[in-house]
Amino acid sequence: MLEARRIAKRFGPVVALADVSVEFHDREVHAVLGENGAGKSTLMNILYGLIRPDAGQVVLDGRALRLRRPMDAHAAGIAMVHQHFMLVEDFTVAENLMLGHLDVGWWLPRSAVRRRAREAARRFALDVDPDRRVEELSVGQRQRVEILKALLREAHTFILDEPTGVLSPDDAQQLFESLRRLRNRGARILFISHKLNEVMAIADRVTVLRRGRRIITESADRATPESLAQQMVGRPLGEFVRPPAPSSGDAVLELRNVSSARGHVALRDVSLVVRSGEIVGIAGVDGNGQTELARMVLGLDRPEAGDVRLFDPDGGRIEPAPRAVAHIADDRRREALVLNMSLAENAVLKHHTDATFSRRGWLNRRAIASHAAQLVREFDIRPASPFVAAASLSGGNQQRLVIGRELAAGRGLVLAVNPTRGLDVASTDFVHRRLSERAANGCGVLLISADLDEILRLVDRIYVIHSGRLTESRRAGDPARPTHDTAEIARLMAGLPPDCGGRT
Ligand SMILES: Nc1ncnc2c1ncn2[C@@H]1O[C@H](COP(=O)(O)OP(=O)(O)OP(=O)(O)O)[C@@H](O)[C@H]1O
Ligand SMILES: [Mg+2]
Repeated sequence: MLEARRIAKRFGPVVALADVSVEFHDREVHAVLGENGAGKSTLMNILYGLIRPDAGQVVLDGRALRLRRPMDAHAAGIAMVHQHFMLVEDFTVAENLMLGHLDVGWWLPRSAVRRRAREAARRFALDVDPDRRVEELSVGQRQRVEILKALLREAHTFILDEPTGVLSPDDAQQLFESLRRLRNRGARILFISHKLNEVMAIADRVTVLRRGRRIITESADRATPESLAQQMVGRPLGEFVRPPAPSSGDAVLELRNVSSARGHVALRDVSLVVRSGEIVGIAGVDGNGQTELARMVLGLDRPEAGDVRLFDPDGGRIEPAPRAVAHIADDRRREALVLNMSLAENAVLKHHTDATFSRRGWLNRRAIASHAAQLVREFDIRPASPFVAAASLSGGNQQRLVIGRELAAGRGLVLAVNPTRGLDVASTDFVHRRLSERAANGCGVLLISADLDEILRLVDRIYVIHSGRLTESRRAGDPARPTHDTAEIARLMAGLPPDCGGRT
């Protein structure tokens, strides 16, 4: 048994954990749940030796562990998948997988490293190319590498901090299969996720944290998604489903027969339009051209053939450019935030040269601070201090900051890429309402998401992306209330023709 005993941890004034005790048994999948900032990652990082607690002990099979660094945790048979990836970007997938495995010795032929990587990918059914450099991978692909790296360790305890955030439903199923096998062989698995149906499917027991305190530990059979949400947030939650837009206006974005082979996935003859007032969804398994498509829309890449047209709210054509689009980026830590800058500074990134925030090259600190304070209030960012470094915010709070900044301005196009990844149920609901509000206020929203449920709840129209091609999936059924055909969408996501009627 692995025990957290009376663990306490503060960061300055913030109490991350207060007197938390949990027992993690052998042969169990133990889900740790809680709102953004509840203390989940802090507790896991303490069990892994990355953070030292102010008080309390980590006890393994009756013996207190001295965890001064992750090496100590490895020695105790503990492996971890981090919420934020810890891969070496310059290395290939295979090199990353072998890193830290002391058993491989000082020297190993490249071919053997690659073979092992390929074997691992096959064994855990998580597809990655061993020769690609991590730098070139999409977030979903990085996630797979990060998971493989942990599963490859000869560990008895596996800690997975939001491993499924960007996995496709298929990959998540594969991961759960692997986790069940590990558990049945006696391993103990600590699992963090905000997706409650996932938790119900995989967990044997659940622990709920709220604001640094343990609220309950119970058998998963006794819990329901509703009871868990209630324990996490302290109140019941309704799931937001957006009604279809009453009407749509002029185009804010139009792609006409766009092709480009510059990215890793070639875009092929992509046409698409987003009008003011509507939310358009791009469904698809991560790595099918979503990144390339987003770069086109942002003007970061130019098409080799075809045309990308962006319009301002008055219908004038504007150059595609990052500043012209409200962009909720896929990877907040790499693309959206400057981690060592403060919350307030991050809150005006991209807009810091606007007249509101600067004059003749001098920043108006007071205006910036008050803008940040408003975002903090409106988006309930915790801790509520404009001066904390963005790096010290919990994952979900970083995401709220990005969303707050991007949705604060403009009426044109909102490009949201996996906008609720890592958000708790209450915040997810909140973001969905905000996106819906932006559409109602005249924005056009392009929602690229690996989460099909999210797309189905929010959008007016759906395109499916596969191997760089888009196919529109039209609503069908009762003409008065046409619905999206999820079976058809699933077929398109898998690259099958829409009308092939099930298996081929
Ligand atoms: N290095 C740090 N410096 C300052 N404060 C921190 C640091 N790490 C965490 N915190 C604070 O401790 C609290 C708990 O954070 P933690 O990352 O454990 O939350 P979490 O439950 O994992 O949330 P999420 O679901 O958003 O990942 C938060 O208020 C966070 O801002
Ligand atoms: Mg966390």
